[in-house]
Amino acid sequence: MNLKQLVGIEAASYITDGMIVGLGTGSTAYYFIEELGRRVRDEHLQITGVPTSFASKQQAIDCQIPVATIDEVPYVDVVVDGADEVSAEFHGIKGGGAALLFEKIVASNSKQVIWIVDESKLVEHLGNFPLPIEVIPYGEEQLFSYFESQEYHPTFRLDQDGEKLVTDCKHHIIDLHLEEIRAPHALADELDHLVGVVEHGLFLDMAHTIIVGAADGVKTIHV
Ligand code: A5P
Repeated sequence: MNLKQLVGIEAASYITDGMIVGLGTGSTAYYFIEELGRRVRDEHLQITGVPTSFASKQQAIDCQIPVATIDEVPYVDVVVDGADEVSAEFHGIKGGGAALLFEKIVASNSKQVIWIVDESKLVEHLGNFPLPIEVIPYGEEQLFSYFESQEYHPTFRLDQDGEKLVTDCKHHIIDLHLEEIRAPHALADELDHLVGVVEHGLFLDMAHTIIVGAADGVKTIHV
């Protein structure tokens, strides 16, 4: 069993009858959804899943997990999601799979946020992983120039055809190649105030629990 599968299965053991469960996106969340689906079918676990992307929604439906949108539920009990980097202060970068907007909306409305990662995602400071910025296409070249002027080393994320990648909400992604983010709150504040930026991949002070898969087993960090 690989480490992503290990943490996905571990996280699924946190889910109990009646919960409204945020379903993350990505190759680690995939295993969580798969195991949750197994429990729905084999153990008749009664839950409602709130997917964070079209891909996770389709997987949940295929797994026979009942789904609802974030607007059809009063709140989310717990969201389980992957992360691209987790810092020593337990901040995260997310959005490597381009689903950061729905992921942040679901996490912001969740009582519990659980991240599932393999140990390769743990870093001292965020920033080696490119920071995704979801932008509205109108005016995006102006934002791109601004990021260049700040020496944030922006690149547009492209799809397999070499076109600008289009997110589930029909936005584009600009990745910032920052190397190291020393002041994540200040950067988040700056990005939050840029017109045309829909959302960014800094997930600060959001995780309650981090389940880490390592060669010697699963470690759970309660933040
Ligand atoms: C999706 O947009 C992301 O936030 C993912 O949760 C993140 O990229 C982790 O993905 P993996 O589990 O595939 O590494």
